[in-house]
Amino acid sequence: MTDTVKYLLDEEKLPKDWYNIVPDLPRSPEPVLHPGTMQPVGPQDLEPLFPMALIQQEVANERAIEIPEPIRSVYRQWRPSPLYRARRLERALDTPARIYYKYEGASPAGSHKPNTAVAQAFYNKEAGVRRLTTETGAGQWGSALAFAGALFGLEVRVYMVRVSFDQKPYRKAMMEAWGAQCVASPSSETEAGRRILAEHPESPGSLGIAISEAVEIAAQHADTKYSLGSVLNHVLLHQTVIGQEAMAQLEMAGDYPDIIVGCTGGGSNFAGIAFPFIGAGLRGGPKPRIIACEPSACPTLTRGKYAYDFGDTGHLTPLVKMHTLGSTFVPPGFHAGGLRYHGMAPLVSLIQELGLIESRAYTQIACFEAGVQFARIEGILPAPEANHAVRGAIDEALRCKEEGVSRTILFNLSGHGHFDMQAYIDNMAGRLEDRAYDEAQLSAALADLPPVAAE
Ligand SMILES: Cc1ncc(COP(=O)(O)O)c(C=O)c1O
Repeated sequence: MTDTVKYLLDEEKLPKDWYNIVPDLPRSPEPVLHPGTMQPVGPQDLEPLFPMALIQQEVANERAIEIPEPIRSVYRQWRPSPLYRARRLERALDTPARIYYKYEGASPAGSHKPNTAVAQAFYNKEAGVRRLTTETGAGQWGSALAFAGALFGLEVRVYMVRVSFDQKPYRKAMMEAWGAQCVASPSSETEAGRRILAEHPESPGSLGIAISEAVEIAAQHADTKYSLGSVLNHVLLHQTVIGQEAMAQLEMAGDYPDIIVGCTGGGSNFAGIAFPFIGAGLRGGPKPRIIACEPSACPTLTRGKYAYDFGDTGHLTPLVKMHTLGSTFVPPGFHAGGLRYHGMAPLVSLIQELGLIESRAYTQIACFEAGVQFARIEGILPAPEANHAVRGAIDEALRCKEEGVSRTILFNLSGHGHFDMQAYIDNMAGRLEDRAYDEAQLSAALADLPPVAAE
């Protein structure tokens, strides 16, 4: 009997294709609508914002999409990422469960985000784009795009949600070290930002607001395109290298997951680990239970409505069908900045509607308890977002113990928390609060959904 702790794949085992779940789904995704005409958007409607190669991936129907070699060559720096068996955690919990985690924190930016940042920078460069604009919540995405922009010679301008901007000055420094610019959002640089500031001068910001700012600038400049770190089909597609690698690594371990856990902000790391397994199940293979873990202060999948909505607060984006809390919903400030988004990826939303996944909401204090426990046992200090997945995985392992059943649990440790130390300082000092969202604000935001939602 071996005591293997990490399962490593050779570089040549890096996936050659991204996996597109769409052809395996029993129902096609709903079309993206133009908010003026309520008609499905065409590629030309999206062209001011994205290069054609990414628009094509957004609506692709083939199961496998080849990863261009220049992207694979950058991936090779940290991919295939390690799969760990959390043997010490299993012993500490005294659980019969076998717990594995895929660690995405070894990338240069510290999370899964470079998997799509590198791809997006590559396709934009190929299309002759000079500059990219984007939003960032946790700072992980902004850092990832800054890194990718540096590699491919693109200027990058990042609108960082105000509350995270104040909590994490070193994320800004990191983006600037890679040559990007980072601005607190809402800012006075854009119409969308000025409108919010006029009404709420102390606004903590939100991903929905920061997206409006980045989209506005991209739409106004021919040499500039917009880049999104989650939610869209092509972003989820790029993240599927995670699940494909995990599948091969579990095969090395002679195991297969009964349960897969991921945290959900816009849905990309969750889709990255889960979609290849869901697809295998839809094609006749085993069907693990799949659990999405979200913050109870921004409970998109557990409390949101499945409806057409804007992707941003300023209503500059097309309408997508997704679980949403309403585009004007601004969650209270909490430390998992990457999970403070009012919507959820349309594909993740659809698979929840199809009953292929479960979702659950956790408070921030419960998540930090799990994160600190994990750090003290396994050593890695998770990002506050990833703590939601750690909480979910530990809860499932404890359930195995209660029921006396051994199950295989796989979770995605989407990033490290080395730039999130203010959160850990607050936690250690007992200053973390579980602030509930404002029910009246949620009702108002949901009442404000675009009319097509009522159909
Ligand atoms: C480490 C980490 N995990 C998870 C997320 C949530 O995003 P997504 O749901 O797209 O994976 C973020 C977002 O910033 C993040 O930084």
